[in-house]
Amino acid sequence: MTPITLDFSNMVEERLGTGGVDADRLGADLADRFRTAHEQVEASRRSGEMGFFDLPYDSEGLGHAQELAQRLEGRFENLVIIGIGGSALGARTLRDGLLGTLWNERSNEERAGRPRMYILDNVDPGAVLDLVEHLDLRRTLFNVVSKSGSTAETMALYLVIEGMLIGEVGTEKAGEHFVFTTDPEHGALRAIAESEGIESLSIPESVGGRFSVLSAVGLFPAALIGVDVAGLLAGAARADEYCRTPTLRENPAGLMATLLHTAHRESGASIHVMMPYSERLRSFSFWFQQLWAESLGKAHDLSGKIVHTGPTPLPAVGVTDQHAQVQLFIEGPRDKVVVFVAVTGAQRDLDIGTHRASMPTVGYLGGHTVGQLMEAERQATAEALRQSGRANMTLEIEGLDASTLGELLMLTSIATVYAGALYDVNPLDQPGVELGKQLTYGLLGREGYDPPARSDPDGRWRLTPG
Ligand code: PA5
Repeated sequence: MTPITLDFSNMVEERLGTGGVDADRLGADLADRFRTAHEQVEASRRSGEMGFFDLPYDSEGLGHAQELAQRLEGRFENLVIIGIGGSALGARTLRDGLLGTLWNERSNEERAGRPRMYILDNVDPGAVLDLVEHLDLRRTLFNVVSKSGSTAETMALYLVIEGMLIGEVGTEKAGEHFVFTTDPEHGALRAIAESEGIESLSIPESVGGRFSVLSAVGLFPAALIGVDVAGLLAGAARADEYCRTPTLRENPAGLMATLLHTAHRESGASIHVMMPYSERLRSFSFWFQQLWAESLGKAHDLSGKIVHTGPTPLPAVGVTDQHAQVQLFIEGPRDKVVVFVAVTGAQRDLDIGTHRASMPTVGYLGGHTVGQLMEAERQATAEALRQSGRANMTLEIEGLDASTLGELLMLTSIATVYAGALYDVNPLDQPGVELGKQLTYGLLGREGYDPPARSDPDGRWRLTPG
């Protein structure tokens, strides 16, 4: 028995009615299609393109991250991660998922001397100033994370912070406040690390940003704040192991990808909602959003034909979104599948007092716990969706700890590359963001790049009232 169960009963026709998948197909055409997708992924894995599959077994990478975290233990009060996209979302997911969203609010004693962790993943100058004015830079370590070592946002923030640190502690000492996590050979960060002796960790060549959470990208900051990083990898290995099977009915990542892809292709459910019933997993839904969007939203299929395909991932969180988005999910267009994540098993919980037992409008709550209320609402929402003919499935996780979170991250990463094969796109590239990058370079005057041909703003199409 593994700690994760996929309940896909609300995806099958027998329970959902129209829009559900005929369960027999899971042993027939959908099983065949998945077998082909699985073989395609296994072939990419064998050819070394999908390095994230190897991360659970990369004891050297784990050792480097742990050793550096150990060496830096107790030296800094704050850790700031400078990175964007896949280079930032994973660390936030690990911090929130395993230490809670209020980790930074805890006292030094409560954190057992571990640093607070902040993430700078935007170049909004106000937000950058808000953070640096709040921190004692002398007590802060900056982990600059960039696979390419050249991302404009990350490099600009690095330069800003480096300038501030030079002013604060001097040129000699500024470098001691940085750890770079980057490509083993290429990019500006690697070059600076080598020429100036700055501490650095490597992201394996074949591991792209959004698949890198279980590399040094996530492991180093997680180890520094006291997460059981070996446990994370052990859980990830579990998911890898049970996803080796090409039998659809036995492969949860395969079922997740197949059912979401089929709902999109055959029932027009192009919006895939990730909705954990857990505040700690709110960040996970944003991590998943980036993974699903950047991997599957593509202009070309694998033969080069223009297809403009891909599902739209939508983050949500239970129960909060029951009072925001669920109305739309239940009564709006039938273009969504909701993937719930339920954390089961013993959790910290709170009794709801019975002291208002005589008041019928609240009395029924007494004698229950807040956790029971949350679980009842999750079950009720899944059932309400089903009764309204809206497809949904649930990933049930037995307790949230390093090992189960590692398993969840790996399972959903594997589902993503299966989905890539089913959508017939390359899940590892992101050519669509290139044009914007090049135009930005042009606007900033980088040599070899042209600014946009059109001059904006165009006064004909602007309105400033009054
Ligand atoms: O998933 C991806 O590949 C991207 O989101 C990258 O993580 C993001 O663009 C940042 O790239 P880099 O790590 O090279 O700075």
